[in-house]
Amino acid sequence: MLELKNITKVIGDKLILRNFSLTLARGESVAVIGPNGAGKSTFFKLAVGLMQPTSGEIHLNQAQIKKKSLLLQKKIGYLGHESFLYNALTPRENLVFYGKLYKVKNIEEKVANLLKEVGLHYFKDIPIRSFSRGMMQRLAIARVLLADPEYLFLDEPHTGLDQEAVSLLNRLIEERQREGIGILLISHDFEQVVSVCERVLVLNKGRIIEERQIDSEEGLMPFKNWYEAVVSGK
Ligand SMILES: Nc1ncnc2c1ncn2[C@@H]1O[C@H](COP(=O)(O)OP(=O)(O)OP(=O)(O)O)[C@@H](O)[C@H]1O
Ligand SMILES: [Mg+2]
Repeated sequence: MLELKNITKVIGDKLILRNFSLTLARGESVAVIGPNGAGKSTFFKLAVGLMQPTSGEIHLNQAQIKKKSLLLQKKIGYLGHESFLYNALTPRENLVFYGKLYKVKNIEEKVANLLKEVGLHYFKDIPIRSFSRGMMQRLAIARVLLADPEYLFLDEPHTGLDQEAVSLLNRLIEERQREGIGILLISHDFEQVVSVCERVLVLNKGRIIEERQIDSEEGLMPFKNWYEAVVSGK
């Protein structure tokens, strides 16, 4: 169980997050949506330990998280706006590097399987500096799955992916969720939100302004209309 309790973040004189609380159980999939600048990515960085909250507490499996820890990075697979990949290295070398960092067992076999899973097997020995955006994103996805995380925090993971890769990513998310991994997804792509997530939070100006379940039969248009109404305060 991952719990965020009354998190507040102030940078300079700006209040970025206000009294933010959230509980995420393993096997749950929750979307975080909201306008640009609402504080979604900041919330993720706080939760994965890349940034310290001004006040509030984060607990993982009942233990309070004090500061940036490798354990936390291992337990939470975080895909951010940056890829955290090395341009001079090949996909295989990048993954082996992170595998060693996280002390992953049977690294080579695991890396080979993941590269197949994300469709980069044929490119595994080419330095990634020449890769397209979508190829980079596929590799970034493989990286976050490497350490068998208990939670996946995906910040706009569908960006730059082609249709095939979008389906592949959604399949990966659903599989991992069935295996008991908790998923948090930030996305502006509501089609993916409705198809992948069971619950949604709307963040606006650093506050959760609405939270509800998503009906698996719910159409895209009703969801969009609901969101528009929530954000405009109608
Ligand atoms: N390091 C920082 N220093 C100052 N302000 C920051 C910093 N990081 C984020 N902010 C501010 O915090 C607010 C929230 O930013 P954040 O990146 O969390 O938004 P977001 O909801 O992820 O937006 P988007 O949908 O555009 O990705 C913005 O006003 C941003 O300018
Ligand atoms: Mg963001």
